[in-house]
Amino acid sequence: MIVAPSILNCNLLKLGDEVRRLQQAGADWIHLDVMDGHFVPNLSFGAPVLKAIRPAVSIPIDSHLMVIHPERVIPMFLQDSDQVIFHLEATARPGQCLKLIRAAGRKAGIALNPDTPVTRARPFLTRIDAVLLMSVYPGFGGQRFIPETLDRLRTLKQLRDKTGSKALLWVDGGVGPDNCQALARAGADVLVAGSAICKQRNYRAVIARLKCSKA
Ligand code: DX5
Ligand code: ZN
Repeated sequence: MIVAPSILNCNLLKLGDEVRRLQQAGADWIHLDVMDGHFVPNLSFGAPVLKAIRPAVSIPIDSHLMVIHPERVIPMFLQDSDQVIFHLEATARPGQCLKLIRAAGRKAGIALNPDTPVTRARPFLTRIDAVLLMSVYPGFGGQRFIPETLDRLRTLKQLRDKTGSKALLWVDGGVGPDNCQALARAGADVLVAGSAICKQRNYRAVIARLKCSKA
């Protein structure tokens, strides 16, 4: 299992130390939650924060854009992100978003809110590297995992496998040691976890538990 810690709820006063610690503890990616106060009712990080953390780690960083009209802000995140994920619900121009990301040589992903049918991902599956399934309503860390996500994930995996797509299936929100095994069995390739990691003193131990989950 691939593990992508979200830094939304880490110690922001020590952001540099936190990302270094996560890397040392075995994180595969750093997951940056970008919120605009419109698409979601919260504000978080922008491109300057991404630029600041980029040199602190050598592992890839993915920017999860929870913003309306992502095509307007994607260019700001291309230089320092290894992957950019935008929400299908947030744009009428998903093709343009993908083109911008691809033209910069970055990996591209689409995210789906809990109420969005997973079939919305179908037309994009062979053109993307990731589908991120939200397992909470986006906007805040520390929420409870929505159990229906497991069925959605199974359906999405079937769709993905049928099209021959190589897109990895990411699950984001309320993920931790209690549900990682079920998520692995349902088809998750990548687990995003924020509070489950950051509220523990021993990052390595939690990350190791998440990594060991197997289909
Ligand atoms: C929610 C974000 C998630 C979230 C993860 O809007 O996209 O990445 O912060 O945090 P936890 O694991 O605490 O739900
Ligand atoms: Zn996220």
